[in-house]
Order: sequence, then structure tokens, then C-alpha cells
Amino acid sequence: MPSRRRPKTAGARRERVGVWVFGARGGLATTLIAGTRAVAHGLCPPLGLLTETELFAGVPLAKLDDLVFGGHEVRPGTLVDAAQEIHDRNGTIPLPVLHAVRKELTAIDKNIAAGTLVNAGRTIEEVVGRAAGGEHLRAVVARLERDITAFLRKHELTRCVCVNLTSTEPHLAPDKAHKSPAAFTAAIAANRRTAVRPSSLYAYVAARLRLPFIHFTPANAALLPAITALFVQHDTPFMGMDGKTGETLVKSSLAPMFKYRNLRVLTWQGYNILGDRDGAVLAHAENKRAKVETKDGLLPAILGYPLHTHVGIDYVPSLHDLKTAWDFVHFQGFLGCKMSMQFTWQGCDAILAAPVVLDMVRLADLAQRRGEGGPMPHLACFFKKPFGVGEHDLHRQWHALVEYVGRVRLEQRSRRNAT
Ligand SMILES: NC(=O)c1ccc[n+]([C@@H]2O[C@H](COP(=O)([O-])OP(=O)(O)OC[C@H]3O[C@@H](n4cnc5c(N)ncnc54)[C@H](O)[C@@H]3O)[C@@H](O)[C@H]2O)c1
Repeated sequence: MPSRRRPKTAGARRERVGVWVFGARGGLATTLIAGTRAVAHGLCPPLGLLTETELFAGVPLAKLDDLVFGGHEVRPGTLVDAAQEIHDRNGTIPLPVLHAVRKELTAIDKNIAAGTLVNAGRTIEEVVGRAAGGEHLRAVVARLERDITAFLRKHELTRCVCVNLTSTEPHLAPDKAHKSPAAFTAAIAANRRTAVRPSSLYAYVAARLRLPFIHFTPANAALLPAITALFVQHDTPFMGMDGKTGETLVKSSLAPMFKYRNLRVLTWQGYNILGDRDGAVLAHAENKRAKVETKDGLLPAILGYPLHTHVGIDYVPSLHDLKTAWDFVHFQGFLGCKMSMQFTWQGCDAILAAPVVLDMVRLADLAQRRGEGGPMPHLACFFKKPFGVGEHDLHRQWHALVEYVGRVRLEQRSRRNAT
């Protein structure tokens, strides 16, 4: 198999970086892992990956070939099974790629440990075919930590980024345990299971281990004040939430156009239909609520006034990962004239999301090496509800990223000149 592996130079040590994926055998995770290996081997062009473009030339990012994958999962089966399923349903992992990376997927499977379903809710339990056991929360946290530290030791990794790609959890009600790291730790010790969801425990463990954390799902249970405070205390980068990869990406790019021409948007109706396991989970009202919230919140923020909006999400099993969205925008211009715009978006969800996750893994690793702890506002353009960032205009978010990259390059250049 052709390989882009760097030639070994005498004494040079490869700096490998762990990528710990929660939900490691899901559609997105499997596409991420198989796709990274395929691009690293030169089997596919790095399309969709921003960090492989000229913008990042001279920025010291981890090499794709140096990323080592592991993670937690709650469903049985193997990564090869998951990749085969994606090929059969969507064809988005081509057979030659699957054959070429099969052995590596089998090796990566050994790095995947059993996750937790504590208070994940009935829908997720039904979709993954498992129920939460009775393990004490303190034991769950200790076990999750042991799994990750064993992975780091086994692969001699000094750096690792954690990514949450689990199913969308139901909303978690506010609780006194969420107020501070001490209150959260006390709730764990007291086994207060209703105060947490699996994503809370995953984020908490990442913060305790000082590993950067990317929260790619809409669950409100991960970036709780107690947990984000712990990331800040530990000077560890984190960002979320809910990757912006489809209809919302288009929305956040088009909405500013109406503002730039003082055209008043009266209504923005969006209908999404999707299949797969993600669609099956989102078919349930309590899980859907989290997604609708992150998809629906940005229009008033961009336009600066309230308007009639609606986001519908329906499960259509035969679509599998080909998500389709139809948006109708009703707007008013000069002399009060009403006009409309409609668009249809058809995107393969995991194909759009996997390179975005990979970009963020490399940027989170970079942030940690640069000593930048806490939220990463320069990653706002990748999220539907960027943590701590009120700016939803994709163009402005993009400029924030370009500015950050420019600063990094400048510092690199002055460091090189100084030596
Ligand atoms: N374009 C995109 O694909 C996109 C964009 C934004 C957000 N997301 C979010 O990313 C997540 C993953 O999407 P997907 O299409 O891969 O879904 P998926 O259902 O295929 O994968 C989720 C995986 O997580 C596992 N899982 C569920 N609960 C778990 C737990 N508690 N611990 C460990 N593993 C657990 C499931 O078994 C499954 O393998 C979803 O929440 C989705 O909403 C996806």
C-alpha cells in the first residue's frame, strides 16, 4: 500500500498524538478513523480538511499519520463491521479504502473499551441495545480514567485529544452539582446518577486528565459550568457544541446576506430528514429537543431581531446518512414587497463532519502545546452553538479563525528568526 510516512531520520522521535473518541464505532467516528488512515496513506485526497490547505502552511500541526485512535463505545461489534455497514448503506467508505485499512481498524479495535450508559435515557438504550448497569459513579469515573491512561501508556503518548461523538442525549435539568468542580465531585462520590449523563462523565474525565476536549454533539450535559471550570483550572483547551456541517452551516452563511442589504427576514422554516442511528435517536422528542435548540438559536443572533422560525427533524430510514434539508426563507424589501428564497441541501452527514472533527483535533492539540487553556473561540465557525461566542455569522467566525492562524504563523516565524 502506498504510504506518505515520513522517512525516519537518525535520532528523530515521532511525536504521536492520541485521539480518544467517545462513541468510537458510530457512523461519524468510523468515517473519521477509516478516512484519516486513508488520507494518511495517500489513498484519497484531503478534501474537506481545512488544516491541509495553504492557510495552515507553516503551522506546526500533528501529522495525520501520527494520530493514534482509541475510545469508548457501548455497542458490540467491530470497527470493520461498522465500516462495512457504512459501505453497504451509503457507499461513502469505498471498498478499496475499506480493504486497505481493514488491518489497521482491527488493531484500533483493541484500543476501544466499554463506555457508560449511566442516565443516557431510554431512547439511547433502545437504539444501542444495552441498558446502564448499576456501577457506582465513582467506579465508572475510575474505570474510564484507567482506560485512557492505559491507552496513553501502551502507545507511549504524551498528548491526546478527546472527542465526544456519542448519540444525542436528552436535555439534562440544571442541578446544584453543576455549579462547581467540588459540587460535581461530591455528586459523583454520592452516586447521584440523575445529576449526570454519560457525556458529563466523559468531559469530567478529560478535564481531570488535562486532555483537550471537543464536544461535537448538542447534549447540554457535557460543558456544564462545573466541568468547564475544571478545564480552565487545569489550563486545558475545550470547545463545543454541536458540529456545524449541513443546513445550519448554510444558514449561518446566508443569513448575513439579508442583513447586508437591509432585507427583513420574516420567516425561516427548515425541514430536515435523515436516516441512520443518529436519525433514529433524533426521532424521539426528548433527544430531538437538544438538536432543535442548537439549530434554531442562531438566526435572531445574526439578524438582530426576533423572527418566525421553525426547525423540523424527521426520521426517514431509507435515506441512511444522506441528510436532506429544505429551507424556505420569506423576506421583505423596498416598498414592503415580500419575496422568498428556498434551498435544498443534500449532504452525507459523516463525510461532512469527519474532516471538521479532524481539523479540530489538530487545532486543540496545537492550542494545548501553545499553553492556551479554556475555551477555543477561534473554532466557533465549526459549531452550531459555539461555547462562549455570541457571533454566529459564519463569515465573521471564519475571519476569527484566519486571524488566529495568522498570529500562530507570525509567532512561528519570529521564533525561527530568533534561533
Ligand atoms: N454531520 C454530522 O454527522 C454531525 C453534525 C453535528 C453533530 N453530530 C452529532 O455527532 C454524534 C454522532 O453522530 P453519528 O452519525 O456518528 O451517530 P451514530 O449513532 O452513528 O454514532 C453514535 C455512536 O455513539 C455510541 N454511543 C451512544 N451512547 C454512548 C455512550 N454513552 N458511550 C459511548 N458510546 C456511545 C453509539 O453506540 C454509536 O456507535 C451525534 O450526536 C450527532 O448528532 C453529527
